[in-house]
Amino acid sequence: MAAIQLQGVEKVYRGKVHALRRVSIDVMDGEIFGLLGPNGAGKSTLVKIIMTVIHASNVSGTLLGKPIGDRKTLESIGYLPEHHRFPYYLTGKQVLDHYGALCKVGRKDRITRASSLLSRLGLSGWENKKVGTYSKGMLQRLGIAQALMNDPKLLILDEPTDGVDPVGRREIRDLLAELREEGRAVFLNSHLLSELEMVCDRVAIMVKGKVTMQGTIDSLTVDSRRYEITTLGSIPEWAIELADDVSENSFTLLGDDPSKIQPILDRLRSENIIIVSVQPVRENLEDLFMRAVDNTDAPGAIR
Ligand SMILES: Nc1ncnc2c1ncn2[C@@H]1O[C@H](COP(=O)(O)OP(=O)(O)O)[C@@H](O)[C@H]1O
Ligand SMILES: [Mg+2]
Repeated sequence: MAAIQLQGVEKVYRGKVHALRRVSIDVMDGEIFGLLGPNGAGKSTLVKIIMTVIHASNVSGTLLGKPIGDRKTLESIGYLPEHHRFPYYLTGKQVLDHYGALCKVGRKDRITRASSLLSRLGLSGWENKKVGTYSKGMLQRLGIAQALMNDPKLLILDEPTDGVDPVGRREIRDLLAELREEGRAVFLNSHLLSELEMVCDRVAIMVKGKVTMQGTIDSLTVDSRRYEITTLGSIPEWAIELADDVSENSFTLLGDDPSKIQPILDRLRSENIIIVSVQPVRENLEDLFMRAVDNTDAPGAIR
């Protein structure tokens, strides 16, 4: 079953800003799915539509198999909103208890879950301190704990590592992988590429309200696989003609079949050219992302 399935989502704010254009995504059960895009791309708008915080101009699809907007289903989803604020006078424990109660978690479960989540998110010792004294990273971790209070099958996290230091980010990534092991699906948003590359099973890239690419990082980068051959001294003419790209001491050949480059290596050696390295290379998420951004010039607003 798909955890989230959306087709043709459109959002126009106040008849002016066209924030989403025919967005379709599929998040499978038990996977970590990353929605990636620069600031203003429409990521939070999409999340708010899924959570029915705002209404779409057009939406069809399902959430855990139920129509978008189904109240019971929403109660069973963990949600971390962007720029969330907790009342500063509550303690960490009180915040979790409060959100658990909103999701109709029983009192006993609330107490045990709050204490286990506080320790899981590295907030032990802070449970009885007011959240007004927490750092930004701690508030973010408390936000994730809050999203887990109802033991959700699906978590929706809007910029979960926002404001978190590198060590904390790593801890959050490890936590996300654990949550997947427990069989939960995670849908997260980020403008931080390396975060996603390390943890997501699949990604979608959103630029100016459009999803321009969607799939595993492997499948999205398959066409970019190539070999880079570096030699001591200059590249011979015949190699330059074969190459897809050439620099002073290296050239690249498209494709990922190692047998295809053997004759080229043989010929280089037969001409006494010293081969310094042969390296398989492919795009990373950042290259992919830059390509997605370059390929779109759809205006973000209708005038
Ligand atoms: N309440 C709103 N009213 C009008 N425009 C909005 C509103 N919220 C967001 N937008 C606009 O919609 C676009 C997408 O914003 P958002 O979904 O927050 O992007 P992201 O989360 O990817 O940074 C931006 O151009 C933003 O200015
Ligand atoms: Mg956002």
